[in-house]
Amino acid sequence: MRISVFSVVSAFIFAGLLFGSAGADQTDKVKHEYVGAKKCKICHKKDGIYPSWAKSRHAIAWDSLSTEKQQDEKLKFYYTTGTTAKGELLTGVQCEVCHGPGSNYKKKTIMQDRKLSVANGLIIPDETTCKKCHHDKAPAPLAKIAKDFDFEKAVANGVHQMHEADTTGTK
Ligand code: HEC
Ligand code: HEC
Ligand code: HEC
Repeated sequence: MRISVFSVVSAFIFAGLLFGSAGADQTDKVKHEYVGAKKCKICHKKDGIYPSWAKSRHAIAWDSLSTEKQQDEKLKFYYTTGTTAKGELLTGVQCEVCHGPGSNYKKKTIMQDRKLSVANGLIIPDETTCKKCHHDKAPAPLAKIAKDFDFEKAVANGVHQMHEADTTGTK
């Protein structure tokens, strides 16, 4: 097979288009990694979001499972956030479950700008974000609460709050 100079040159140009422009928009080029809620706390403590979330059902969800249930791989998806680049399992429903892995948007200069944040992995959550877990095919405790799951109401009540006692009988 004869490879023309033209095809070699155009292959380089194509590769350049794919990998070249390391601009502000890093979507699809850089992997978004989980960093954990403690990193978000640095800036979202003063606005009250971290301290409020830390007491929420979501934050304590994993810790409120019995040790036996913590071995259940099926529950892991629903009660944990993901693993960091270093392989640490982040337990509970942390910020990044709803807002996306934060390694590329957590810098102040990016966070201040919604468009830039979204381009770097920030998710502005909507009902579909919650329905990953709050659906009736989910494991027992969650399937039970899926019946009365109401996104509008949950957001109106404060999605970083929900400090009521455990009503789900998880233990
Ligand atoms: C270096 C400081 C800093 C860190 C770290 C940080 N943020 Fe932010 N964040 C900001 C600032 C500043 C804003 C813009 C003002 C505001 O809404 O508080 C913001 C806004 C946001 C918004 C609102 C976006 C919008 O337009 O509605 C979300 C959601 C958010 N941050 C989530 C997170 C999450 C999750 C983490 C951890 C992975 C995190 N932030 C880490 C500083 C930070
Ligand atoms: C269960 C999903 C969920 C988790 C967990 C969560 N958030 Fe949010 N967050 C939301 C939703 C939904 C909104 C939009 C709320 C609205 O429209 O009023 C929001 C809005 C925000 C905003 C914009 C300002 C505001 O109050 O509306 C910031 C900042 C934010 N979240 C930061 C965080 C941080 C930091 C954490 C972890 C400490 C966190 N969130 C955990 C779902 C979540
Ligand atoms: C990764 C899975 C996951 C996602 C995504 C998720 N949740 Fe949850 N949610 C849970 C778990 C786990 C619990 C605690 C269940 C328990 O008590 O065992 C919970 C509990 C709740 C509760 C308390 C229910 C009760 O009656 O005690 C509300 C309200 C809630 N979530 C709202 C939301 C909203 C709103 C969103 C989206 C913005 C959301 N959740 C996204 C896993 C999730």
